[in-house]
Amino acid sequence: MADRDDAFRAPKGTNDILPPASWWWEQARRSAEDLFATAGFAPVETPMFEHTEVFERGVGQGTEVVTKQMYTFKDLGGRSLTLRPEGTAPVVRAALESNLHRGALPVKLYYASWMFRQERPQKGRYRQFFQVGIETIGSDLPVADAEVVWLGAHFIRSMGVEPTVHLNSIGHPDDSCRGGYMTALVAYLEAHQNELAAEDRDRVTTNPLRTFDSKEPKTIEVMGNAPLITDHLCDDCRVHFDAVKGALTAVGVSFEMAPRLVRGLDYYTRTAFEYTAGGLGAQNAIGGGGRYDGLAEALGGPSVPGIGFALGIDRIRIAAGEPEVAHPNVDVYVVALGDEASQRSFELVTRLRAAGVGADLDLMGRGMKGQMKDADRSGARWAVILGEDEIAQGTATIRDLSTGEQRTVAYDEVEVELTT
Ligand code: HAM
Repeated sequence: MADRDDAFRAPKGTNDILPPASWWWEQARRSAEDLFATAGFAPVETPMFEHTEVFERGVGQGTEVVTKQMYTFKDLGGRSLTLRPEGTAPVVRAALESNLHRGALPVKLYYASWMFRQERPQKGRYRQFFQVGIETIGSDLPVADAEVVWLGAHFIRSMGVEPTVHLNSIGHPDDSCRGGYMTALVAYLEAHQNELAAEDRDRVTTNPLRTFDSKEPKTIEVMGNAPLITDHLCDDCRVHFDAVKGALTAVGVSFEMAPRLVRGLDYYTRTAFEYTAGGLGAQNAIGGGGRYDGLAEALGGPSVPGIGFALGIDRIRIAAGEPEVAHPNVDVYVVALGDEASQRSFELVTRLRAAGVGADLDLMGRGMKGQMKDADRSGARWAVILGEDEIAQGTATIRDLSTGEQRTVAYDEVEVELTT
């Protein structure tokens, strides 16, 4: 049970998004969705929770996300379910389940969704956070990778943040490539096991690649001299990576080579990338992604390649300096005095709204002065005033709130006056 004092507060690591900040969120989500749609991606929604196996098999048993951060619970039927910590495994699960991979390829999908990870909360790191993401399923061409990296960078820039793009290739798991590299890495880690931070020593046997993700200074120092995957890529992966870099350079995306970037999720193959920004302290990754050519198979499907990213909107907002944005206002505020006028004002507002005119009215029973203040505060261009005189004469007064100019029109003509 929550502490008594905490019971009626938002749970630790979650945020309420209230106006005016909520307008920024709305706009960020919409502009991401518009951008992705105009690049040929279609919206996808998956359930907020999945069978736990989707993440165990998809994201990987040895990852921090699966071992430490998942909100896992049993439902009344005794099934183990997990609130999604990320969107890629669910989207691929859904695509396979509905046989999208057997139809026209590639399948290009985008999502804008809440994710859940039980992490230690700090600035930019929350237990419920919002991601916008895209997934291109079915193409293994380098241009698909470049398209994804470009779109993420372009969106981040459009939100007023200049990202640094960190790029790596982590090859594929066969012995000719990452498999061979793992032998070299494990040999190196075993030779330096005592110099690693105590909490990282187990990783040498459980998931050696994850030692690159460690935030422990001792481990980071050891990893500084570790063999690098990029020196062990097979010819195919090297050619693929060179083509991705070439395509990005050709469209003016500058990137930094990041040979120690392995990303925290096990499904990655070949291209792996991250976007970072200043102003965030330790949580400076505002987005990341990569290729996951083995994920469909890990989820019981055939071999289908894929690439995508997810961007952390909470972090982009902090990096952007938490700006306020312009938002839609009502066009007309109806000011009414007296019972009959109040009834009429509701009728007028419904008529205006039905005609596509944004309209609002007094719901607090305020007097004339108070309602005029509310009209100003609403951001409306016009106030339509219904006083006793207007009611008696079957008229309404239209006031331009920016100039103060007024004119009286027939009550039945208000809509026409305001829409032409
Ligand atoms: P990820 O790197 O785990 O990748 O998350 C992507 C982004 O989500 C991070 O760069 C960060 O901005 C944001 N994020 C992650 N955890 C938190 C948190 N606790 N609080 C606030 N923001 C957070 C994925 O999720 C992959 N599914 C990306 C992907 C798509 N790969 C291929 N396709």
